[in-house]
Amino acid sequence: MTRSALEIERAKYKPKMPKALQGYVKIVTGENTESIADQEEIRKLFPLTYGMPVVTLAESDVPVTARMLNVGVVLSGGQAPGGHNVIAGIFDALKQLNPANRLFGFLTGPSGLVLHNYMEITTEIVAAYRNTGGFDIIGSGRTKLDEIDQFEKGLEICKKLDLTAIVIIGGDDSNTNACVLAEYFLKVNSGVQVIGCPKTIDGDLKNEMIETSFGFDTACKVYSELIGNIMRDATSAKKYWHFIKLMGRSASHIGLECALQTQPNVCLVSEEVANNNQTLEQIVDDLVRTISRRAANNENFGVVLIPEGLIEFIPEMKLLIEELNELLAENTVSADTFNEMSSEEDKRTFIYDRLSESSGKVYNFLPKGIARQLTLDRDPHGNVQVSRIETEKLLIELVEKQLAHLKKQGMLKLKFSAQNHFFGYEGRCAVPSNFDADYCYSLGQTAAFLIADGKTGYMASIRNTTKPSDQWIACGVPITMMMNLERRSGIMKPVIQKALVRMDGAPFRAFAAKRAEWAIKTSYVYPGPIQYWGPTSVCDATTKTLQLERKKI
Ligand code: FBP
Repeated sequence: MTRSALEIERAKYKPKMPKALQGYVKIVTGENTESIADQEEIRKLFPLTYGMPVVTLAESDVPVTARMLNVGVVLSGGQAPGGHNVIAGIFDALKQLNPANRLFGFLTGPSGLVLHNYMEITTEIVAAYRNTGGFDIIGSGRTKLDEIDQFEKGLEICKKLDLTAIVIIGGDDSNTNACVLAEYFLKVNSGVQVIGCPKTIDGDLKNEMIETSFGFDTACKVYSELIGNIMRDATSAKKYWHFIKLMGRSASHIGLECALQTQPNVCLVSEEVANNNQTLEQIVDDLVRTISRRAANNENFGVVLIPEGLIEFIPEMKLLIEELNELLAENTVSADTFNEMSSEEDKRTFIYDRLSESSGKVYNFLPKGIARQLTLDRDPHGNVQVSRIETEKLLIELVEKQLAHLKKQGMLKLKFSAQNHFFGYEGRCAVPSNFDADYCYSLGQTAAFLIADGKTGYMASIRNTTKPSDQWIACGVPITMMMNLERRSGIMKPVIQKALVRMDGAPFRAFAAKRAEWAIKTSYVYPGPIQYWGPTSVCDATTKTLQLERKKI
């Protein structure tokens, strides 16, 4: 593999760590815990891992007298910058505890554990991946690990490799499943521990004990750089409105963070749309109002940020999608009749006639192409694949339609020309920022020390992250502590609560206080590319979201 000049230099970077991880480590036990809600039910579902104490890693004068440790690691779900450093952190801590300890990587995600696909991670392999982006060291995948026979298959390979523990690096669902697996392994007296690590660029795995998920920092910085570049192009050419969709399957944290970094004219926040019960028409009207107010100042350009999950948060769209899912569910008479029709117009009428009055109205309001897309692309469960809907194009089309209508009525005359963009995959495997490189390495080290102490059903956590890294606090947090019951596919299930953008949260309030000004007065900020060497104020700054949440700005 030919390495770039940056990769060669970056490989030498030594991640900064909390003081407690810089020498010998001891575990300090805190208070017992309760789950955030539904305590009785969660206790019953997790009799062996419920209520355990939070533990903190502290400096010690003596080394841990650890038994031999063989550990397996799994990367689960979407890529996030820093995953390789979690693995490097686990590897180094294991070798520091005992050079004979071994680390195995399960290949292409949780399926590697079930199908027994693995490799040993060696000094040479880790060296090639330190401080790099991507998950390609062992690959990742989205197989859900939630069936007993998968657990049993997993246990078989754990026994064969004589594994002490597995580290599952993933988002809220993967960590929920890590906890179910920990409980199962205890129940069957397997002796195999399970530790989770908080990963996702979406930033929606966070709570009182987990300040941020890794990857969010780097991904937002990459997108903000790109948005800033587009803003500079917009102010130079003064002829385009840029509609930019940003990744984040459900929560709008990425869009909000990028808005705080770059100060766009508009940033839609899905959670606010749902909260205010906004319609698609109202969203479009608001956009048209901003576009015309800027045009009145001769500013026929602008930047609009759109969260990837928006469609599902617009209540009327959610209802329409639910009705379509039911109407076109596989092997139903209505779906068969619909699929046999050859004329597009007949298909439209067929659907329209069967929708409720309100959904019929929305269906008619949508551009025909999008309405058609809603009846076509379905996932294996028969649901519309909302994330594939090009919301940025949909909004451009609806704005154009509305402007044309106003023009026809002589109510408005302005130039509107739009460009659409989608930023997602561009940021997921970027070279991790200093923050993510340091944070991930510390998470990996913490996971290894939790294993050495015999912990299971815990998530590695690094807190105090807006302080210099030597003041960071390394902890182990019982996963059951973050759980509540939620309805999933019609059944109440114990899950880690997903963190959506809160209307009363500091990041949203900071944005809401400024957005009216940013809408009309061009106030763009150009963050530029991530810097790995240079002044701390540039290289080590955390996200605005984290700073606001930790009351640093
Ligand atoms: P995770 O929650 O697994 O970290 O993945 C998040 C994400 O990057 C979303 O932002 C995006 O919607 C999705 O993955 C894309 O998934 P895929 O990689 O399967 O296309």
